[in-house]
Amino acid sequence: MPTALIAPSILSANFSILGEEIKAVEAAGADWIHVDVMDGHFVPNLTFGPIVVEHLRLISKLPLDCHLMVSNPEAWIQPFAQAGADWITVHAESTPHLDRVLNQIREAKCQVGVSLNPATPLAMIEEVLDLVDLVLLMGVNPGFGGQKFIESTFGKVERLVKLRAGRSFLVSIDGGVSTQNIGQLQKMGANIFVVGSAIFSTQDRRKAMEKLRCSLNESE
Ligand code: DX5
Ligand code: ZN
Repeated sequence: MPTALIAPSILSANFSILGEEIKAVEAAGADWIHVDVMDGHFVPNLTFGPIVVEHLRLISKLPLDCHLMVSNPEAWIQPFAQAGADWITVHAESTPHLDRVLNQIREAKCQVGVSLNPATPLAMIEEVLDLVDLVLLMGVNPGFGGQKFIESTFGKVERLVKLRAGRSFLVSIDGGVSTQNIGQLQKMGANIFVVGSAIFSTQDRRKAMEKLRCSLNESE
């Protein structure tokens, strides 16, 4: 059975009780913790720096999945690796030297991810597919939680899964993932489901996680 993991995105969590929010999703069976790093330049929002990851590392044993939505990601690989990131994903659109940055992530002993915005074609990453452990396809334009899933992402997932033949990278979907689409995305071959508002904007995190897990199981 191919991997199907749920990675709650803390972007939609209550930051005044972030530790409790993480404990709640951990107890509800979260597989990874997704950390959205935004610089106010590559995307129109600001979030976390390495110091936050350092503190998350102290309170959680789950893999920390750091999604860098920043310009000049070269400057941030080492700080996030040192802070305790397990996975580091950079955007293909964020650097003219993608091959170099992906190698930097590997050298920093983190798992290597590359991401594409909804409007960016898969051709942007074809040459680096042998260098990555994960490809993250955005289902929304990055910057904010709670946006509507862009339907053309389905076709992109299908094409990416075909391109994967003979390789073992994971396919991650981020943005607009909910019980409405998670099953279909799994059927198409996606492995990691990043979920923000569909978990943290509900009253009961455990119930939200259960519903997502059920939708995954139903599609098996
Ligand atoms: C968007 C972020 C996502 C976001 C997903 O830029 O990369 O991780 O938190 O949130 P939802 O699930 O609410 O779309
Ligand atoms: Zn993200």
